[in-house]
Amino acid sequence: MPQDKLHKISASLGIGKLQRHIFLCADQSDAKCCSRKTSLESWDYLKMRLKEHPGIFRTKVHCLRICEDGPIAVVYPEGIWYKLASREVIQRIVDEHLIGGRPVEEFIFARDPLNPPPAG
Ligand code: FES
Repeated sequence: MPQDKLHKISASLGIGKLQRHIFLCADQSDAKCCSRKTSLESWDYLKMRLKEHPGIFRTKVHCLRICEDGPIAVVYPEGIWYKLASREVIQRIVDEHLIGGRPVEEFIFARDPLNPPPAG
């Protein structure tokens, strides 16, 4: 694929100007952390809400390897991991964290802002 086509696609997705990125375990091939139905309700709601917020990127993943107390979500750049991310909790994550910048403390189970090793 020509490089300028990739540039156009990434620019149309807002890549280069993103503020946050949320990954959500949903539509799993092997639903372990919650039911597929619950995860899809969260995913559909997340997609609908983020249409109005092009600076926030969303990615659906089939498993984040926690496989307990899901749906599981993780938000970067803060590296905040959320449990029990039902539709109602996703609503709070969108309003309070993704838009408002204040993580939803009662659903956080881990924190890991990425800290790459020094180059060279
Ligand atoms: S199935 Fe959701 S984290 Fe593994």
